[in-house]
Amino acid sequence: MITAVEASGLSKTFGNVKAVRNVSFEVEKGEFFGFLGPNGAGKTTTIRMLTGLITPDSGKALIDGIDPQKDPIHAKMKMGVIPEFGNVYVDLTAKENLHLAGKFYGMSKKEREERASEILHMMELKGRENDAVRNFSKGMKQRVNIGCAIIHEPPVLFLDEPTSGLDVQSKRLVVRIVTKMKEKGSTIFLTTHNIQEANELCERVGIIHKGDLVAIDRPEKLRNTFDKTQSIEVSIEGEFDVDMLHNDHVNKIERSGDKLTLFTDHPDITVKRLVKLTDEEDLKILSLRTQGPSLEEAFVRLTGGNE
Ligand SMILES: Nc1ncnc2c1ncn2[C@@H]1O[C@H](COP(=O)(O)OP(=O)(O)O)[C@@H](O)[C@H]1O
Ligand SMILES: [Mg+2]
Repeated sequence: MITAVEASGLSKTFGNVKAVRNVSFEVEKGEFFGFLGPNGAGKTTTIRMLTGLITPDSGKALIDGIDPQKDPIHAKMKMGVIPEFGNVYVDLTAKENLHLAGKFYGMSKKEREERASEILHMMELKGRENDAVRNFSKGMKQRVNIGCAIIHEPPVLFLDEPTSGLDVQSKRLVVRIVTKMKEKGSTIFLTTHNIQEANELCERVGIIHKGDLVAIDRPEKLRNTFDKTQSIEVSIEGEFDVDMLHNDHVNKIERSGDKLTLFTDHPDITVKRLVKLTDEEDLKILSLRTQGPSLEEAFVRLTGGNE
């Protein structure tokens, strides 16, 4: 395995907020890696340390074996960075932005022209290349943003919540472009707070919560963990002891209003037992709803709910 991104013991504290705590992982060359976590989990701080934008309090990062703290120029050539909030120049046109980015990476005029044309085409911005970015929609701005980051065809691409807040069409285009980069051999490091997106796109996912890396695995494996947290919401009329609903397959029962939520790894068995029990006890089921394997819900559970 060739390592494209290596984080070893990365930590960063802001005031009394431990934004990132001792985070270590490796991303293989050519891999599509997702960094998933709720808002404030430490995703952006991690990406900033990996790309050399901020200095970690401890630990270090290596991009294609290069330490961005020690050799920032060399490291920058290896990567494309799409920050959380774009860094395009709104007074410049789409084409001017691409040329400026190309210059920054030391590309010749000829190289820049070829590549800019290619990118404008790929980003479906042909015909708008000479318009000031100021007049672009959020989705179009993001496409220019990505174009600038990939102008030098970097082997490693960092994207910080690239689809967040975009319309469906732009979202799809962004996903298509990133997927194309991956197919051409780039390593992708993408942060998201959307588990569905992580599940669909990423070959491996790290989950960060309050600065800690709490899980790292293939999405299928994480899903399996999540699947176990299925639940059944039931409302029962009559007097009964909630404890009798507990069994080997019910891990937890929560009450909210007149509804009970049974967390179970076997919804089928649990529903059958529930029906049998209420029948025997002459209780009436007012409503019953099984919650499918909701990834969102599971993710919330894994990251400790919304406390
Ligand atoms: N420059 C900063 N100054 C102070 N606090 C910060 C700074 N950057 C991030 N934080 C804090 O660190 C935590 C992690 O933030 P961030 O890495 O931006 O999370 P995410 O990108 O996952 O939403 C949050 O509590 C945030 O408020
Ligand atoms: Mg962020």
